[in-house]
Amino acid sequence: MMLEGKIAIITGASRGIGLVTAQLFVKHGAKVIGVYHDTQVESDEIDYYRVDITDNEAVKEFIKDIYKKYGRIDILVNNAGITSDNLTKNMTNEDFVKVLNTNLVGPFNITKYVGPIMQAQHYGSIINIASIVGVYGNIGQANYAASKAGLIGLTHTWSKEFAMKDGNVRVNAVAPGYTMTDMLSTVPKDLLEQFKKQTLLNRLAEPIDIANTVLFLASNYSNYITDEVINVNGGMKL
Ligand SMILES: NC(=O)c1ccc[n+]([C@@H]2O[C@H](COP(=O)([O-])OP(=O)(O)OC[C@H]3O[C@@H](n4cnc5c(N)ncnc54)[C@H](O)[C@@H]3O)[C@@H](O)[C@H]2O)c1
Repeated sequence: MMLEGKIAIITGASRGIGLVTAQLFVKHGAKVIGVYHDTQVESDEIDYYRVDITDNEAVKEFIKDIYKKYGRIDILVNNAGITSDNLTKNMTNEDFVKVLNTNLVGPFNITKYVGPIMQAQHYGSIINIASIVGVYGNIGQANYAASKAGLIGLTHTWSKEFAMKDGNVRVNAVAPGYTMTDMLSTVPKDLLEQFKKQTLLNRLAEPIDIANTVLFLASNYSNYITDEVINVNGGMKL
């Protein structure tokens, strides 16, 4: 029980890495508030809310309601994210901005309200789900790479801002390698095979590989770790 009694918000908790993280948090005693946008989800153990994280007003109301209902927010996992791949020369400005809006503005919208709550209660752990692509860049992913590199920049900024005044708020990022979720459904099989060969551990990640690291960062087992980016990529370089 690494998160006994903790209140955790996880965005993008309806499937993939977010869902597995939410289930793991529940197993470790947390009350999980799961945010999703598209598919309708129901669960006895996770409190789901449908919120578009790109909508600042909706996020503001959501956080206000959550704080009123649960009284505190101990953990925030900024996990929701999308891709819309194309070579830069073919990428529309709409597709560039759409990905930035979800992957970068979305976490900003939530954290600007959650960070001060954590700072005032002198306790909190924020985990941003970045990507190996934000660390190395990748062909056909200018929008995604920019968003995830930006999220790493926000991690370094928020760890400083929310630690002020004895805030005791830790902010870290996890940069996963290729992970078997719906997000990879548009990636050709032969490319996935190539990525596997580029990985020292000779396999792509399962969501639980990422969730275990998020659990560690959310828990007090990491309570002197902040401002870090942890690569969880099986030794892959891009
Ligand atoms: N799968 C991978 O290979 C991989 C690798 C590195 C990083 N990541 C990152 O991990 C995170 C989770 O990825 P995944 O593979 O589980 O994705 P996924 O596509 O399986 O799930 C995405 C989740 O985000 C939510 N979401 C999307 N737009 C939203 C919005 N505007 N408001 C609220 N929720 C929204 C969806 O409802 C869904 O729950 C993402 O940030 C992704 O960029 C994934």
